[in-house]
Formats: sequence, structure tokens, C-alpha cells
Amino acid sequence: MLGILAGKKGIISGALDANSIAWKVAETAHKQGAKIVLTNAPIAMRMGEIKKLAEQTGSEIIPADATSVEELTNLFAKSQEALGGKIDFVLHSIGMSPNIRKNIPYTELNYDFYNKSIDVSALSLHKMLSVAYKMDAINEWGSVVALSYIAAQRVFPFYTDMAEAKAVLESIVRSFGYHYGKAKKVRVNSISQSPTKTTAGAGIKGFESFYDFAEQMSPLGNASAQACADYCVAMFSDYTKMVTMQNLFHDGGYSNTGISGELMQKL
Ligand SMILES: NC(=O)c1ccc[n+]([C@@H]2O[C@H](COP(=O)([O-])OP(=O)(O)OC[C@H]3O[C@@H](n4cnc5c(N)ncnc54)[C@H](O)[C@@H]3O)[C@@H](O)[C@H]2O)c1
Repeated sequence: MLGILAGKKGIISGALDANSIAWKVAETAHKQGAKIVLTNAPIAMRMGEIKKLAEQTGSEIIPADATSVEELTNLFAKSQEALGGKIDFVLHSIGMSPNIRKNIPYTELNYDFYNKSIDVSALSLHKMLSVAYKMDAINEWGSVVALSYIAAQRVFPFYTDMAEAKAVLESIVRSFGYHYGKAKKVRVNSISQSPTKTTAGAGIKGFESFYDFAEQMSPLGNASAQACADYCVAMFSDYTKMVTMQNLFHDGGYSNTGISGELMQKL
């Protein structure tokens, strides 16, 4: 049976281990017939986990620090060689805040770290898109998806500078989505995902509590990493061709819920 990505070629960033959202996206895209290249920061490669995913999905790994235009240029050039042509879809699944890693509160942010958070977690999307645009590396009707979080719109105190990073990311989705759509009919969207138990997720202070809170707040419960992967694959497919420049909530209804009966009872 042909999958919904049969014949498509994609680049998937951010698969660190089997919990990563990107890991599930790679497995699902492969199952749906896509040929893929995996990429991550050279430092993440050393952990070696990604090699298992590459074997499982028959894909090549091309390391790239997503803050480096040079490395991203190499990524898009080598990916086209490895896949035998232009790219149809790209997953941006990259986030990191040194301020969060070092438990620095929002009111006392270290600004060098702040710049790093924004560069890694948001500007890297602009750099990817700009490199692809200049190289004309993405086919018409191609689809780029970045992963975001609702802290771009509402305050989650422990998410600190990642809130701004996600707000910038979502703004780049709209702005670049306009330019890339006009010039090449390439679409750009973000998926705003529920809290998910991954390395990046669990690094946030109080994560367990707000995971449980979101679970009880959302009519459908939290969206799993696998459900997010399924949505990403739908967004890469031709069934969503006219969707672009959107931030799409994938959160079991959390974003439109004021309070749930379950939480009311507890208070
Ligand atoms: N886990 C959650 O609760 C949650 C919720 C909403 C959105 N997201 C977003 O989903 C995306 C994926 O995160 P995840 O939860 O799967 O965690 P993860 O830790 O598995 O993935 C984050 C990835 O970013 C990569 N990365 C960091 N710096 C990089 C750099 N300079 N260049 C290239 N790659 C780099 C890491 O190596 C890692 O693979 C992130 O954008 C994250 O903010 C996560």
C-alpha cells in the first residue's frame, strides 16, 4: 500500500533519542513512504542514538548546527545529493535554552544565554528557510513545519526565555511563509504541541506538574509525541496543500479551555 508521503523527500532535524518528537516523525514519515535525511547538532551525534533511527529508516545522517548558515548550506546541498533531487518537506524540531538549563529565573536572565536561546530555537528556522530559498532547494508545494508551544501566547513562568523564542519562531513562520509562498508556493507552519515527555520537555522546572495540569485541562488529554508526528506527516502531505503561515494548536483542546470540571473539583 502506498503511503501519503510516497515519493516525497524530507529533512528531519531534532531526533535525539526515542522520546524525541522528531524521532516519531521520522518513523511515521518513513512508514508513509518518504525518503528522509536525519540531521542534528554534531554534539548530539556523539550520543549515537540517532544511528539506530538511521538504520531503521534507511536514511543518511548529515550533521549541522542549526545556528550555522554554512553548516545548513552543506545540509541542504548534501541532502539533495543523498535523496536525488529537491526537498518536499522539512521538520524544524529544535529548542534549547541555557537559561533554563542553568535554572536562571526570568527576572534575572543572562543575556548571552538569552541570545543563544533565540538563535538556536527561533533564528535557526529563518536560517534554514533562507538557505533553502537561496538554493531553491524545496519543491513547489513543499511544506516546512516547526514545533512550538503555547507559551508564545500565554505566560508559563518556568518557560522563561523560551516563551520569547517561540513567539519569534511563530512570527518567522508567518513572515517567511508569505515570502516563500509568493515566490515558490512553499508553505510554512508551526504546530503548537502539548507538553510532551522528552529530553527538552523534562528539562523545564516543574514540568511534571504542568504536564498533569494540561492533561486535566484538555478535553482530549495531552497530545502524545506519536499524535504530533501523525499531524506533522499530514502537514507534509498533499492533503493540506492550502495551509500556510499558521500556528496550529495540537493540544487536545487545551488552548480553548478556560477551566475543566476535573480541575474545578480539585480546587
Ligand atoms: N517536549 C515538549 O513538552 C514540547 C512541547 C511543545 C513544543 N516542543 C518543541 O518540540 C521541539 C522538539 O523538542 P523535543 O521535546 O522533541 O525534545 P528533544 O530534546 O528530543 O529535541 C530537541 C532537539 O534540538 C536539538 N538541538 C539543540 N541545539 C541544536 C542546534 N544548535 N542545532 C541543531 N539541533 C539542535 C537537540 O539535539 C535535540 O535533538 C522543540 O522545538 C521543542 O521546543 C516540545
